[in-house]
Amino acid sequence: MTAGPTHEPIDAVRYLANRSSGRLGEAIAEAAVGQGFETTLLLGPIPREPAPRWRRCPRFERCEDLRRLLASEWPRHDCLIMAAAVADFRPRQVQAGKLRRDGGVASIELESTPDLLAESASARTARQFVVGFALEPRERLEASARTKLSRKGIDAIVANPLETMDSTCIDGFLLLADGRRRDPPRSGEIDKGEFARWLMETLTPLLEVRATG
Ligand code: CTP
Repeated sequence: MTAGPTHEPIDAVRYLANRSSGRLGEAIAEAAVGQGFETTLLLGPIPREPAPRWRRCPRFERCEDLRRLLASEWPRHDCLIMAAAVADFRPRQVQAGKLRRDGGVASIELESTPDLLAESASARTARQFVVGFALEPRERLEASARTKLSRKGIDAIVANPLETMDSTCIDGFLLLADGRRRDPPRSGEIDKGEFARWLMETLTPLLEVRATG
């Protein structure tokens, strides 16, 4: 399980970040533990400490840190649920010291980050299952999520409306690589904990099929 934003450094004191709270990812990890899965939570820079039960909770700051953690953790797991809001861009160069105002206009050149989800999917074995997230405006949520699912070569994708990004509720659904769509039993916005438990219940039989070939 991965959760939270990334911080991509600009200089010694500043970074590029996003509004991800990590709450949905943590809730899914909780639900996985509750359903008996041995779970590792890779957690980004959020302003609160993870619950003490998270003995296996390596932390990351940058996309590159998460990439390294995935390189060591992913081969030892059967399922990756990639809820982390990994930055799509990072500063091409990190300024030494503090970028000074100097009365002028500053510009920061950005470069794309590697797509960790697509990388992890292409490195997976026949037994491993990969779930991604698509954070998109509600009006084109399903279409964009379907495109992302096939472009990244993953097994399933949680479609998550942009509007619920740092909220305690979500109005999302799950799309599977074979085209099926699964919705939570209750429509409309539901608590992220309830959504997380439904998601893990929905994924469990799929993971069992994958694990037994
Ligand atoms: N993701 C990733 N590595 C990145 C960016 C995103 O692994 N460098 C993962 C996220 O964890 C999420 C999924 O990709 O599970 C979708 O992220 P999103 O930002 O919505 O999609 P993008 O890949 O950035 O595609 P687009 O630029 O079309 O929005």
